[in-house]
Amino acid sequence: MRNAKKRTENEKLPELKSTAAVPVFTKRMAAISRSFEKLKKAADGLARQRSYSALLLSDDFRELERSPFATQHGGDFRAFLEFSTKLSAQLHQTSKAASFDAKKFGDLMKELAQNCTRCHEQFRN
Ligand code: HEC
Repeated sequence: MRNAKKRTENEKLPELKSTAAVPVFTKRMAAISRSFEKLKKAADGLARQRSYSALLLSDDFRELERSPFATQHGGDFRAFLEFSTKLSAQLHQTSKAASFDAKKFGDLMKELAQNCTRCHEQFRN
């Protein structure tokens, strides 16, 4: 009997966690925004700098995918995140390729920026 009551109380915990998780998500978003700006600047710069910035960005997105706020969201939200991770990993691959394909890099950056906008339109208020 007492155990059953405890379990009911515990079941309420995820809700509390969800409100606490939002600032973490916001902080990570701000970090993503900084990495994205750095990568934009690195587009015409040194291959090493570009590659490093792209790696940071894909790590940021990968971490965000695992954050409590993100795992509590389903469907579209996760799809946006997963697509962002995929695009930034491709940006990293493109950046470290022996011969740099600036057109491909530009196209990927554009696609990633559109993905930021679409997710914001749908989920940010
Ligand atoms: C999966 C959906 C999603 C994707 C993809 C996404 N964002 Fe966000 N972003 C959000 C949400 C939701 C918020 C609002 C968070 C909040 O209210 O705390 C936000 C907030 C922000 C903020 C404001 C952070 C702050 O300090 O208030 C910036 C800047 C930002 N995003 C930039 C970007 C950039 C740049 C990209 C792409 C490289 C991106 N976001 C991709 C969902 C996303």
